[in-house]
Amino acid sequence: MALDLYKYVASIPDYPEKGIIFRDILPLMADGEAFKQATDEITAFARERQVDMVVGPEARGFIVGCPVAYELGVGFAPARKKGKLPRATVSASYQLEYGEATLQMENDSVKPGQRVLVVDDLLATGGTIGATIDMVEQMGGKVVGAAFLIELKELEGRKHLRGIDTKTLMEF
Ligand code: PRP
Ligand code: HPA
Repeated sequence: MALDLYKYVASIPDYPEKGIIFRDILPLMADGEAFKQATDEITAFARERQVDMVVGPEARGFIVGCPVAYELGVGFAPARKKGKLPRATVSASYQLEYGEATLQMENDSVKPGQRVLVVDDLLATGGTIGATIDMVEQMGGKVVGAAFLIELKELEGRKHLRGIDTKTLMEF
């Protein structure tokens, strides 16, 4: 029987600011069966799309993406916060509530024509995944799917997904 994954998300009121309910997926990741179910669901979605590379942003995108890549037997390329990568990079910036942030990837980490799944734990405003998609496209990769454990619907992050097939396991 499938588990109800919502039971493995902790909701913390007034974090990091008053009025925000923070959705914490660490309890899901700490439970072997729940983590496996979530990984299997995303892996099945990726298989249908014949994905041959997985890309995820720092830090929780690594935790969600790596087991999916392992299950598929394909590579994983991280999108890192600026200044962490030693070799030549591509980069993309996105808006934060105050100011902007930049992500980077090593510029040969996705090969032209590769079919890429982008993954993260959570889709909020979509800035993080939008920048990740940008970098994959700069390298000539084709983003054939996006997957998240959680989508925060009211923040309308999907507008950054440009019609890409998207799977979310839970919505708030
Ligand atoms: C969180 C979350 C997503 C992103 C979603 O990461 O893990 O990556 O924000 O927000 P967005 O859709 O509005 O861009 P955060 O930047 O806090 O980094 P972390 O995973 O390193 O904590
Ligand atoms: N949970 C985890 N990460 C987040 C959230 C949240 O509710 N909102 C933006 N990033």
